[in-house]
Amino acid sequence: MQNKQELLEKLTGIQSSRKSYYSELIYLVEEMKKKNKQLAVINQLTQIQINATWPQTSIYIATQLSQILLFEHFALTIVKGGILSSYLAKWTGDSWQCHTLTKSVLGEAPLLIEQYHLDLQEVLPEHHATSVPLRSQLNETFGFLTLFRREARQSDRDETDLFQLIASHVGVAVENSLLFQDVNEKIKIEAQLIQSAKMAAIGEMAAGIAHELNSPLTAILGNAQLLMREMTDTPAAPLMKDIYQCGVRCKKIIQNLLTFSRQEEYLFATISIDEVVEDVLGLIGYQLSVSGLTVKREMAHPPLLFHGSRHQIEQIVINLLLNARDALADKEDPQITIRSFQLEEEGRLYIGLSVHDNGSGIAPELLQQIFQPFYSTKEQTKGTGLGLSVSLGIAQAHGGKLFAESEEGCYSLFTLLLPQLAEEESEHGEETDIDRG
Ligand SMILES: Nc1ncnc2c1ncn2[C@@H]1O[C@H](COP(=O)(O)OP(=O)(O)OP(=O)(O)O)[C@@H](O)[C@H]1O
Ligand SMILES: [Mg+2]
Repeated sequence: MQNKQELLEKLTGIQSSRKSYYSELIYLVEEMKKKNKQLAVINQLTQIQINATWPQTSIYIATQLSQILLFEHFALTIVKGGILSSYLAKWTGDSWQCHTLTKSVLGEAPLLIEQYHLDLQEVLPEHHATSVPLRSQLNETFGFLTLFRREARQSDRDETDLFQLIASHVGVAVENSLLFQDVNEKIKIEAQLIQSAKMAAIGEMAAGIAHELNSPLTAILGNAQLLMREMTDTPAAPLMKDIYQCGVRCKKIIQNLLTFSRQEEYLFATISIDEVVEDVLGLIGYQLSVSGLTVKREMAHPPLLFHGSRHQIEQIVINLLLNARDALADKEDPQITIRSFQLEEEGRLYIGLSVHDNGSGIAPELLQQIFQPFYSTKEQTKGTGLGLSVSLGIAQAHGGKLFAESEEGCYSLFTLLLPQLAEEESEHGEETDIDRG
């Protein structure tokens, strides 16, 4: 009998009388089941999908953890490049929803946990946060996991150990995802480099061809003009006119290509945007007014100055005005408004010039496409589709921007932003206001 008792104790690890033997055995089996469940969850947590988004990853971890730990909400937080991004998975009663919180931070992840808990008290009042750090293979902390509970329940030692063990496994998976993102980013940059090298090669080739074609084309145009004068009232006159007009179109394409590949020489100087608008309207104002358009000017006073190439900026304004004219064909009360203004964006001062028309407008899905080279909705004889892409290239070469807003059937608004000259560089240091006229 004595031996049997000893044998049972050795087999089960339970040292007790027969009376409490079964209840202890049940407890042990429950404990084993719990441990098994924990192992299964840890195993699942090592299989975080490498290409999942961070909100998806946070919800995945929360779902797994909810099987073995008690909590209301969960957050996966990553600190990278001075930015803390926290993906807060909230249980809404029937599903998890993820909110992203970002903040620029100074310092290392371990020191940020306390501040994070304080910040999150605003988002989740009456919740108590428990965090464990995420460590990389090089033992650097790059983030943390946080559980939010309603009651201030002291976690027992087993639970704390378990949460820490989970963090070490999740850390490896999250680090892999971060590495995957880095590699992906590098592949994208490489692809962009290849693309821009290709574009540069095409630009060089286009510029070469354009130069070659420029001289014979000048001769063709000159001779065509001479012949046109001699041939008035002959049956061949319309044919000659056609030759001349096609020549002009080729010249336009070539000039656009030359600007596109920036092979033309330009002088940079301090220029007032008012003078640019004045010159352009002097050039094409007549063309606009015969189309029945009203051109309104709302220029800032005193005139805003920028540093750049007058010829190139004029080219942008001409492109924008001619596009507006085309969009206004067959419109009732066609109007173009040119406005200049100052704007501060990301701590930099810009001067802005906008061209507004109440014309056909642009569909939202086309707003980016219109800046692509050779994108045009106009008849072949009318548009080359290079106007806006050339204009965008010029704006960017000046350190500026060009963008469009529109409502289809209502209006289009094109805005050109150019870096403003610093006060000491400009002759005017006064305040700027708007002179509507
Ligand atoms: N103000 C505008 N309103 C409506 N659509 C516009 C406007 N400006 C541009 N677009 C659209 O964007 C397209 C591209 O314009 P872009 O100036 O690049 O080329 P284009 O005017 O067709 O030809 P090009 O300027 O080379 O003669 C136009 O064909 C037109 O569909
Ligand atoms: Mg155009």
